[in-house]
Amino acid sequence: MSLLPPRLARKALVTGVTGQDGSYLAELLVQKGYEVWGMMRRSSLRNTQRLSPLEYAMRREDTRLHLCHGDLSDTSSIRRILDEVRPDEIYNLGAQSHVHVSFEMPEYTADVTGVGTVRMLEAIHQLQLPAKFYQASTSELYGKVRETPQTETTPFHPRSPYGAAKAYSFEITRVYRESYAMFAVNGILFNHESPRRGETFVTRKITRAAAAIAAGRQRVLKLGNLEARRDWGFAGDFVEAMWLMLQAQEPRDYVIATGETHAVREFCSLAFDRAGLPLSWQGSGVNERGIGPSGEVLVEVDPQFFRPAEVDLLIGDATRARNDLGWKPKVTFEQLVNLMVDHDISLLEAC
Ligand code: NAP
Ligand code: GDD
Repeated sequence: MSLLPPRLARKALVTGVTGQDGSYLAELLVQKGYEVWGMMRRSSLRNTQRLSPLEYAMRREDTRLHLCHGDLSDTSSIRRILDEVRPDEIYNLGAQSHVHVSFEMPEYTADVTGVGTVRMLEAIHQLQLPAKFYQASTSELYGKVRETPQTETTPFHPRSPYGAAKAYSFEITRVYRESYAMFAVNGILFNHESPRRGETFVTRKITRAAAAIAAGRQRVLKLGNLEARRDWGFAGDFVEAMWLMLQAQEPRDYVIATGETHAVREFCSLAFDRAGLPLSWQGSGVNERGIGPSGEVLVEVDPQFFRPAEVDLLIGDATRARNDLGWKPKVTFEQLVNLMVDHDISLLEAC
């Protein structure tokens, strides 16, 4: 029998734990044996629906998930949590993450999505924590793209207050890495989706509508720009890349993407197909319509969903991540659409 004390579980702190990625990452880390601390902001009602599979499993096993209240706009809560938890790994996923909302709340977005990152980094530095730090960077940094496909060396040209705030976070993460020899990295993640995606992002808006229209509970879906193209992957695959980045020998920034791009219209067609409502498209621009199998208009364009400046085309090249980390996506575009539509159909059937 060994006289050595048992090896203590590694501790991870996840900001934004109540969000799409936070919930998948918390599950992955718990599976890997981490003690996970999730930072969530205080709200009048508890907001942990996405964590319920994990909380349910916890009741039968050792508690490995701890939730604590903190806010990226509040240095004192960040410092207190870091000092108490003393994590080995920190995943900074918290953000005002909606691009359209960032045009309506630019200053708030700058504070939480931009300055929030330096609040985290400076607290880690002042407390002299030897923690590794992951920053949730984004393909929105490329904005008006200068090169296709986009790689780690493609210049940035953000197109929204959200993109600008994330550009600051990207750079300040690099600055702390270079100034203080911190293991601090940026994951430049392209769009990733799941049944847990927020309901106002375009993919989930579409899959919920396809399910509701097929069930006779909604008449029409109104969308903005159908031409926009995105490199859409599955969130479950992408959180694995976050973890791999913090296990690497060297701190490096990585693009995480599928390498395929699809238009919003294509996503819509596949989702409505899956719901049993194949669409044909008629007209163009704001007059474009998606027509259902009985000739009824099921999809319309509504300019209220246009953005003041659009990101037209994103497609990432994740060669560095494949070579260094052995990461590649598992879920295909079509599988992703199907699993989101099926989930939204089953939700409606359950109520
Ligand atoms: P999400 O579902 O919108 O989750 C955002 C999380 O941040 C939520 O837990 C939210 O809490 C939390 N949050 C918001 N304001 C906060 C504040 N002031 N203090 C502390 N926490 C706060 O976003 P996601 O899709 O999981 O994305 C995770 C991160 O990756 C974000 O930083 C996002 O910008 C970035 N990203 C996402 C994608 C993507 O395609 N999903 C791609 C690239 C980068 P509430 O639950 O209380 O709102
Ligand atoms: N949200 C939304 N709603 N978008 C629409 C709609 C609509 O009704 N109609 C068309 N779109 C278009 C948007 O104009 C955009 O070009 C595209 O669909 C995707 O929009 P979102 O799903 O809102 O995602 P996003 O690409 O702007 O931002 C997401 O991905 C980024 C990574 O590139 C977010 O998750 C960001 O946090 C993330 O950084």
